[in-house]
Amino acid sequence: MAGMANPVVELRAVRKAFVAPGGEIVPVLDIDTFALEAGEQCALEGQSGSGKSTLLNVIAGIMRPDSGNVFVGGQDIARFDEASRDRVRADTLGLVFQQFNLLPGFTALENVLVAMSFGSVRPDRTRAADLLGAVGLGHRLDHKPAELSIGQQQRVAVARALANRPRAVLADEPTASIDTRHQQQVIDLLRDSCRTEGAALLVVTHDPGVAGQFPRQVRLEDFNRAARAAASPARPA
Ligand SMILES: Nc1ncnc2c1ncn2[C@@H]1O[C@H](COP(=O)(O)OP(=O)(O)O)[C@@H](O)[C@H]1O
Ligand SMILES: [Mg+2]
Repeated sequence: MAGMANPVVELRAVRKAFVAPGGEIVPVLDIDTFALEAGEQCALEGQSGSGKSTLLNVIAGIMRPDSGNVFVGGQDIARFDEASRDRVRADTLGLVFQQFNLLPGFTALENVLVAMSFGSVRPDRTRAADLLGAVGLGHRLDHKPAELSIGQQQRVAVARALANRPRAVLADEPTASIDTRHQQQVIDLLRDSCRTEGAALLVVTHDPGVAGQFPRQVRLEDFNRAARAAASPARPA
């Protein structure tokens, strides 16, 4: 596309609706275009319920849009089957969740190795240990999640997200479960690690102080027609 540098993620005419329990169809995403360029760091804000997590799930191929194109690393995953979407996700993206989603029965090192085993690159203990060392957990490789502090668990999740040399990391409110003292540390780690690894970074946050640190800041209501429609005052019945 003219004017586009080198998007790692590009959405075109993406629509997604859910069916409410009463059968009513609720549009959640209606986006003409959204792109994340290679190496770009972007904060995504938006009201609760505006579709931020749905957008990340669609980019990650966890959900399929009802229509439109979702280019991830140049491949349009919108109509890929689940196995193909899983493969593109494992090879191209790293995900960080609010609740970390670490495997409780596995050590920090094993959590990173398991993520590597889903990708196309062979699991590499040295690289896994280096990634954990880079987030300050070189002395905690053999600890299970329950033996780590909350902040340390999220740092394992950051190392895991980078396991397969992703082209982009998607983080959904990564500091929402962390005490305020350690929130900045996790944001700094995410930004520094992505920069070092050459990955783009898209972070959902409610914290204007966090968003303000990013070179690019977007509000979902500004490019998601469905969120704007939902936010506008109800018409009289
Ligand atoms: N699996 C689902 N089934 C039905 N409705 C959903 C589902 N996931 C999200 N929604 C609805 O979609 C809207 C957007 O949700 P979400 O993407 O989680 O917003 P945000 O992350 O911005 O708070 C909300 O109204 C939510 O209730
Ligand atoms: Mg959300």
